[in-house]
Amino acid sequence: MFESSVYANRRRVLLERMAGAKGIAVFVGNADAAMNYRGNDYKFRQDSSFMYYWGIDEPWFAAVLDLETGDECLFGNDVDIDDIIWMGPQPSVASKGALIGCSRTAPLPEFDKTVLEAVAKGRRIHFLPPARYYNQMKLAQLTGIPADDVRKVGAGASEELVKAVVSMRLIKEACEIEEIDKACEIGYEMHTEARRGCKPGVLEQEIVGRMEGITLSKGWGVSFTTILSQNGETLHNHSHHQIITPGRLLVVDAGAESNTHYASDFTRTYPCSGKFTTKQREIYDIVEQANEVAYSLTKPGTSYWDVHLATARYMLEQLKALDFVRGDVDEMLHQGISGLFMPHGLGHNMGMDVHDMEDLGENYVGYGDERQRHPLLGLGNLRMARNLKPGHVVTDEPGIYFIPALIEQWKREGTDKGFVNYAKLTDYYDFGGIRLEDDVLVTEDGARRLGSRRLPIKSKDVEDIMSQE
Ligand code: GLY
Ligand code: MN
Repeated sequence: MFESSVYANRRRVLLERMAGAKGIAVFVGNADAAMNYRGNDYKFRQDSSFMYYWGIDEPWFAAVLDLETGDECLFGNDVDIDDIIWMGPQPSVASKGALIGCSRTAPLPEFDKTVLEAVAKGRRIHFLPPARYYNQMKLAQLTGIPADDVRKVGAGASEELVKAVVSMRLIKEACEIEEIDKACEIGYEMHTEARRGCKPGVLEQEIVGRMEGITLSKGWGVSFTTILSQNGETLHNHSHHQIITPGRLLVVDAGAESNTHYASDFTRTYPCSGKFTTKQREIYDIVEQANEVAYSLTKPGTSYWDVHLATARYMLEQLKALDFVRGDVDEMLHQGISGLFMPHGLGHNMGMDVHDMEDLGENYVGYGDERQRHPLLGLGNLRMARNLKPGHVVTDEPGIYFIPALIEQWKREGTDKGFVNYAKLTDYYDFGGIRLEDDVLVTEDGARRLGSRRLPIKSKDVEDIMSQE
């Protein structure tokens, strides 16, 4: 938890950004989520926006901020003797309020009453799209808005509140950057463990277990379900049942969440035999340099949309030099040919959520009013396209993948407009994929890769370190 002034200040700024709005803003913290029966719950994870403004990392809290008067109240239940028997003595809700600079607290049932009274008076109830179903049902019950509409910005959730929250959470404060750096330190150790474990004969799951153990012992846990697979052409591959096999590539995309719930997200790709084949190195070096191109362009005054396009252009030029594609690179870029090789975007915002604030709506977070999403494969999946500002934290994660089903579909449907050399691609159906990802802070005059150490990334450095481990 940060100092109380951090939370009080955030709520003050939120009030300023919502100036002129009528009604109340309500924040529903997360409830316990049953794993297989009530009482046997998943490990608790607080709602990130609740955490941001109200700082309480416990289930069954809610809060109200009156947008007209500035009055605020934190709602939660004090424990009784039954709770003390099972949970031990707990600080009072009032003392928790003091930790976040909120002097008014009340029992949780008062939250329902407060919202119902505001609804009865015809006051506007502003809330964020809830990620959890329980909160969706709770908001539907209190506001009378159909449950399916509660999550829709405009129909249920408040667009003004979404925009105000996004504008604040996008720009990270110094105390948040410190926490992201900590998550990156843990991520570095996780990935080091994975690289050391990448030896022929080892089960992928064993590596996953060892690397996840590191974040569990140093932080909150993983920031998303670990992706570790020799079938790296499947972008989010969560099956870990294969044995590490010489000659293949292992994609490891994983991150840690710090104890204060800030994320890291790194990807490295390793040669399973410790040395890249010529074919693998050719593609690897393109991706590694693409990561560098993206980083060198990441600075205030440029947009991540343009950084994505410059990176895609670089990859097309290199793929052309290797005869994967033929023709004019500008035209290829325009036609979205890079999407065949990199169907995802260059990166995303990162903060308390690995894809920061994705629950509030990807376009509100990554595009705002600055531009419209493009339908092209690749560019269309770009999650962050905004003009870069100091305090933005983004991932820089170019990749090249050979996805047989996608190649076959493009060939069948002529999507490539004649630019793709399919004869060359035939030899790459069992190649897999390569992705290389760092986490980057936009600074006043450029950018900084987060974490104190960068995971080895140059093909030679990767081979050298693997030969010593
Ligand atoms: N690291 C997973 C993702 O960015 O989607
Ligand atoms: Mn990522």
